[in-house]
Amino acid sequence: MTINPQETQAKSTRVEPIDLAAKLELFDEHWSPKRVAQLNDYDVKVVKIVGDFVWHSHDETDELFLVISGRLTIQFRNHDVVLGPGQLCVVPRGVEHCPRADDEVTALLLEPAGVVNTGNAGGDLTAAVEDI
Ligand code: NI
Repeated sequence: MTINPQETQAKSTRVEPIDLAAKLELFDEHWSPKRVAQLNDYDVKVVKIVGDFVWHSHDETDELFLVISGRLTIQFRNHDVVLGPGQLCVVPRGVEHCPRADDEVTALLLEPAGVVNTGNAGGDLTAAVEDI
């Protein structure tokens, strides 16, 4: 029997749980997503949100928001979506949106690596993604 080295490596990889509450205690900044995991070419990020973001769209990708705590409004040009803890929505690529939170929200984001948080809008709220 031959041993496939890749298989051996995969079997010895140790998978650890990622505690989102603990990750969220590591930072205070708003609108600055932090990467907590990767899968394939996607980033799993957590973010703290308060106030109004900037209207923008992502021409190349959809964007998933999953609220962990608080109440997040995602404004679209023709309607708003309100998400509470445990609720998610997917913003389709190319669709203008502007997240808003009257009080602090924590959320998980799932999107391809390299997506810029402000999409096509740019500006002061553009943040580089950090690993935590
Ligand atoms: Ni966006």
